[in-house]
Order: sequence, then structure tokens, then C-alpha cells
Amino acid sequence: MPANLYDSRELTAYRGHIISPVQEQELKDIRDGVLIVDDRGIIVFCGAWSEFEKNKNSLKHIHNYGDKVIMPGLIDMHLHLPQVTVTGKSGEHLMKWLERFVFPSEARCADPQYALRIANWFFDEMVRNGTTLGVVFSTIHKEATDVAFEVASRKGCRAIMGKVLMNANAPDFLTEDLASSLSGSEELCQKWHGHDNGRLLYAYTPRFAVTSTSELLTEVGKLWRAKPGTYMHTHLSESLEEVEFVKELFPKSPTYVDVYHDHGLLGHNSIMAHAIHLSDSDLDILKETDSSLAHCPSSNFFLKSGVFGYRRVESKGVRFGIGSDVAAGPQMSLFCVMKDANYMQPDQWLYPTELLYRATLGGAKALALEDKIGSLDEGKEADFVVVDPTHRTGIIDDILSKPTDEILSALVFLGDDRVVESTFVRGKEIFNYESAKELSQSRR
Ligand code: GUN
Ligand code: ZN
Repeated sequence: MPANLYDSRELTAYRGHIISPVQEQELKDIRDGVLIVDDRGIIVFCGAWSEFEKNKNSLKHIHNYGDKVIMPGLIDMHLHLPQVTVTGKSGEHLMKWLERFVFPSEARCADPQYALRIANWFFDEMVRNGTTLGVVFSTIHKEATDVAFEVASRKGCRAIMGKVLMNANAPDFLTEDLASSLSGSEELCQKWHGHDNGRLLYAYTPRFAVTSTSELLTEVGKLWRAKPGTYMHTHLSESLEEVEFVKELFPKSPTYVDVYHDHGLLGHNSIMAHAIHLSDSDLDILKETDSSLAHCPSSNFFLKSGVFGYRRVESKGVRFGIGSDVAAGPQMSLFCVMKDANYMQPDQWLYPTELLYRATLGGAKALALEDKIGSLDEGKEADFVVVDPTHRTGIIDDILSKPTDEILSALVFLGDDRVVESTFVRGKEIFNYESAKELSQSRR
């Protein structure tokens, strides 16, 4: 660490047990470690406290978390903001579930007051769950999406988000005309993409092939490619019924992947949620185009959509992270999603180290943001969570004194929102359990 950094900037130390992914099966694991963060929110040192201690006079603040875990903030690669209101509505497969529960809930976002209330709720939930970056579907409503960006901006959250585009095969109240759908997206992108030095980024968000005309897909692809750094975010091959419908709607394209490929929607910074029912040649196209996937196991369990070929996708070298897909995923906690990723595979083990990787650095790589976030390394932005597995859970109370693989296993198989004590984005604490509790008590 260069000496002048100490001299010129206000530094804060976060001392604790640092656990951070290096690659799929490898961790940085430092008991009595320290994260030193400067006043821009950049990590300037991550290592052993004993190594840093001689410089401690340069520190303005020291937060000592003892043997609690400091790990990178969790990255949720796919979830739906308006759907926080309809979690846990089960009993239907995807297409009926959308019609019966989801579309009516999204229609309510036509009211900006309602949209504001839901956006506040959503981002509070995100940080309470230790999610420091969400890749978020809003609704078709431009104003509601604008409000959602405002809320994320004010609360200090990191998000990749976009207004949904839908112009076919949907109820009238969620069907737009193409021109305003495109211009609304473009204007929001203009206003929000790159906001606060890249904390908020824009994703062009056609819902899925089913609710899009061919023209919509072509035109939204053009907008996306015209603005480098923005994302394409949609659903791909989630349920068999959906796949059949897409075949009927787009007979010129042999497969669902081809539909997006033929309309120019695949490529670097293109995020496809689910990607379950795919052939090897579909996966080859995703790899060749450098597209990314969001694996959403809790959602796939909940809607009985099918099993994502985790090891197959991995061996093809397609980049992917994990997503809660709230509300089809009933919980926002990525600890629950990590557990479900393992449970979902019928005959293969996924290990806690690699699951943590998928929820952090793997997601950052899939979003091409690994130079900024995803792990606790010098030069990256300080997105991290303080985790206490003994706090408010049934996990054995001396777990923090156990070997790291046992701590991680407890977090992955028994963890949820209750283990998150604090959430930081760019070095700013945006959630603290005790403060949030006091606030809610004082409001009663
Ligand atoms: N496919 C199209 N829209 C949706 C949605 O809202 N949730 C899920 N799980 N799949 C979708
Ligand atoms: Zn989804």
C-alpha cells in the first residue's frame, strides 16, 4: 500500500474474520483481518491486522467486529421490484402464476405513490438481506421506474435496473405501444445510467420473448448496442410451456436462444435469467456471444420449472451468478438461494466455497464488474457485509471459533436474513440491524 494514501485520505478500519472468494474453490481467509477503506469508499488494504497494526495511527475510525465474519456484499443477479408484494403465492406453473398473481401486482405501479412505497420496501429488504447489488426488473411504468432509481440513489444501494418492455400476449393493462416503450426506456437510461459514478446502471429489460413482438426485440437490441456499458436483461427458457409458446410465436428461429440471437440480444453484458431447458449447442451460442446467466434455484423449485445444468454450464465456461428471482423465489436472502442451488442438483454436491463465489465474485464477473466489486481486494469498492451466524438463529453459539469451512457451511445451509448485521456499499453503512430495530421501535 503506498504511504501517501495514509497521509492524504481519511481511513477507516473494519477488523474481523475476513472471508472472500479468490476463485470458485479458493478463499482468502484471514482471522483477525482488517479491511482499510478510504473516504472514497475504496479498499486500500485487506490483510492481517498484525501486518497493518504499525500504521494504526493513520486511522480515523476503527470498527472491531471481533470474530464475526466480514465478507463481500451479495450480488443478486435477478429479481423483480414490484413482486415483493406477492411472495409465497404458490400452486401454479410460470404462465398461470404470472397471469394470476404477478401481472395484477405489477399493474398497481401505475400509481406513483404506490410505486414509491414499494420501492422503499424493496430496497430496505435488499440491504437487510446483505445484498449490495441487485439486477432488477421494474415494471412497464416509466414513472415508477424513475421513482425506483430515486429511492436506490437516496438509500445508497447499488442496482442495475430497467423499465420492463411488453407489447404482446399480456393483459391490456400491461401492454404498451412500442414507440413509447422504447422512448421511455431510452429516456430513463439517459437519466440514470452511470449515476453516482456507476453505482446505478441501466438494463434494457424486455420481459421475455412471449410478451414481445419481433419488432420490439429488434429495436430494443439496437438501443442497447448503441449505449456501451448498459445491459440487456431478460428471461430465457424457464418453463417447458413457455418454450413451446415461443416456438409458435417465432417459427423462423429454431430454438429459444436463437430467438434472442437472431434479434441481436445476446452478447457481452446480456443477462439471461433461468436458462434451464437448453441444448449443448444453445450453450455454445451463449458462450460464443459471451452472454451471462442468472441461475435462480429457489424460483425454479417454487414454480417447478426444471433443473439448471449447473456443472454443464460451468464446464462450457459460460459466466453465471445466482439470483433470488423474487417473487418466484420466495425469499430475498441469497444464503437461502445458495442452499437451494445445492439442493436442486439431484446427484451432485455444490460446496459452500463455490456457492459463496457464485453469490459474490462469480456474479460480479458475469456482470463484468469484477474490477470494482465481488471480493475484498485492494483497489475495489468497499461493498461488504458483517455477518454473525450466532445472532438470532439456531446455529450453535461457538460456530465462530470453528474452522472456516464449518462457518461457511452453517451460513449456506442455515443462514438467511437473520445473520446479516451490517451492510456497506462503497464504504457507507446502509444497513445496521440494531439501528433499524431502534428505528422501527421508535415508530410504533
Ligand atoms: N418470465 C417472464 N416474466 C417472469 C417473472 O416475472 N418471473 C419469472 N420467474 N419468470 C418470468
Ligand atoms: Zn424473473
